[in-house]
Amino acid sequence: EKIHNEIFKNSTEASRVVAQEIAQLIKYKQQKNEPCILGLATGSSPVKVYEELVRMHKEEGLSFKNVITFNLDEYYPMTKENKQSYHCFMHQHLFDHIDIKSENINIPDGTVSIENLNQYCIDYEMKIKNSGGIDFQLLGIGRTGHVGFNEPGSHINSGTRIITLDHITRVDASSDFNGIENVPKRAITMGVSTIMRSKRIVLMAWGQNKSEIVKRTIQGEISSEVPATFLQNHNNSTFVLDQFAASEL
Ligand code: GLP
Repeated sequence: EKIHNEIFKNSTEASRVVAQEIAQLIKYKQQKNEPCILGLATGSSPVKVYEELVRMHKEEGLSFKNVITFNLDEYYPMTKENKQSYHCFMHQHLFDHIDIKSENINIPDGTVSIENLNQYCIDYEMKIKNSGGIDFQLLGIGRTGHVGFNEPGSHINSGTRIITLDHITRVDASSDFNGIENVPKRAITMGVSTIMRSKRIVLMAWGQNKSEIVKRTIQGEISSEVPATFLQNHNNSTFVLDQFAASEL
């Protein structure tokens, strides 16, 4: 296997281990009086990790006061109020339930005008660099092999930018949007190079649905046709899988 992987009985157990690692990192940085920079993902895969972090905040006093977050992506165009926005998702599943400072939350803004988008993406990238860089990046994987919204064709050197969503990605999102015609055609996403600069990467995948793309990503040739394969060249990334997502390895 070209990428280190850990296989669990189910996503609940796996998510607990991932949440533990994040909590340890936050506490370690607190002791050193340093900010902890987290790269965060949306979709169904990270939901239980966020649940566990919220539980640790409420029951164990885990504080997020030193945490700065950068989300991977957002649909474009997309208002913040829209229930399908990643902005809403993150507040609903995590930010509304913890003590993170609102000025420390960064999510690509789906309302930026098209003329300002280029500069906006450059600034987002710069803000990540100026924060000291991402200490821990959480990832899911799409059936196209996308990480964030880096669809097939994404270059290894790509930075934060606007992209066109793959047809399969829009099909997969169509139930959330009540039909494919309502799924935005574009998105803002961190680039492959943005993700690759993270000091630590954990990609999670659950279910039979992901087994084929997990196999291609871990065992296949590195290629922009499956952007997640670039992770084979990252020196500190782990795939956390349930037994179903790992079933073809
Ligand atoms: C979405 C997100 C990705 C996510 C992927 C998988 O399109 N932009 O960041 O990893 O699809 O989603 P899920 O976790 O629901 O399977």
